[in-house]
Amino acid sequence: MNFPDVLMVQGKYQVKPPLPFTPGVEIAGIAEAVGAGVAHVKPGDAVAATLPHGGFAAQAVAPAASVVPLPAGLDFRIAAAFMLTYGTAYHALKDRAQLASGETLLVLGAAGGVGLAAVELGRRMGARVIAAASSGAKLATCERFGAAAGVNYEQEDLREALKRLTGGKGLDVAYDPVGAHFAEPAIRSLAWGGRYLVIGFAGGDIPRIPLNLALLMERSLLGVYWGAWTAREPEANRANLAQVLDWIVSGRLRPHVSRAFPLEQAPAALAELSGRRALGKIVLVTDPALAG
Ligand SMILES: NC(=O)c1ccc[n+]([C@@H]2O[C@H](COP(=O)([O-])OP(=O)(O)OC[C@H]3O[C@@H](n4cnc5c(N)ncnc54)[C@H](OP(=O)(O)O)[C@@H]3O)[C@@H](O)[C@H]2O)c1
Repeated sequence: MNFPDVLMVQGKYQVKPPLPFTPGVEIAGIAEAVGAGVAHVKPGDAVAATLPHGGFAAQAVAPAASVVPLPAGLDFRIAAAFMLTYGTAYHALKDRAQLASGETLLVLGAAGGVGLAAVELGRRMGARVIAAASSGAKLATCERFGAAAGVNYEQEDLREALKRLTGGKGLDVAYDPVGAHFAEPAIRSLAWGGRYLVIGFAGGDIPRIPLNLALLMERSLLGVYWGAWTAREPEANRANLAQVLDWIVSGRLRPHVSRAFPLEQAPAALAELSGRRALGKIVLVTDPALAG
């Protein structure tokens, strides 16, 4: 499950399928059949895929270009949970922000799906990661996954906390899947030449930003739209996902799946996401033995 599922069922996502539709944009399982001319996957292979919608089901059809064969033995709960979040976070940090080792990275909504992926990847790429989230339990999770410091932005002023945590120097990169009233203080906290990544607006409001904040310190505001980028740059995306999968299989990344709901409890699982209660990723499973 991903936050776009919540937005899509509310009719608020940029993609609005005609009703009735089945939500779900990311799946993992066994390939039953492949279309004519598909060579990289065969029936019986374990695969993960993204799809426009239709993933909350026991069977789904995905475009061949988005289907990735999985390494042997990868848990399907992790396989169903890494592609969208780690694909987005890695594309954002590596291709858009060109995050370098030793830089300071702020991650907002850091205990959520794309947030925790950015915490783990930022750390793996050698950055000092500052996590921002709404509770102590969420920040503790972020620290377990590589954050060097945390800010509870519901209790502490974000800008003041970032001044304190960077010794007044400011951030090199800010990664923002929340938007709302956190975007502007995050941009104001960027040092000279800092980069702000527009990931999403889970907080509800799309912020309006005074452009002098970019001019004054030569800051860059960088849009990230992973799904559209994968269609334009399929080879580069495949290379990124291969790198992420390699890190997962070798234990250097550990995508955090905090809960697995049976498929028929999809509405309750969506409510966990929209209610800000999810830690890392939530998945739906068709095999009740994998729930928990
Ligand atoms: N640009 C792209 O290519 C791309 C790709 C995937 C996802 N996204 C976007 O990224 C955002 C996050 O997606 P996700 O799957 O990581 O979601 P998620 O797991 O639900 O995480 C979102 C986080 O946002 C924070 N938040 C603040 N206000 C919220 C509110 N009113 N409702 C829900 N959460 C709120 C929560 O953390 P706290 O409680 O700690 O504040 C939560 O952990 C979404 O807007 C999604 O559309 C963008």
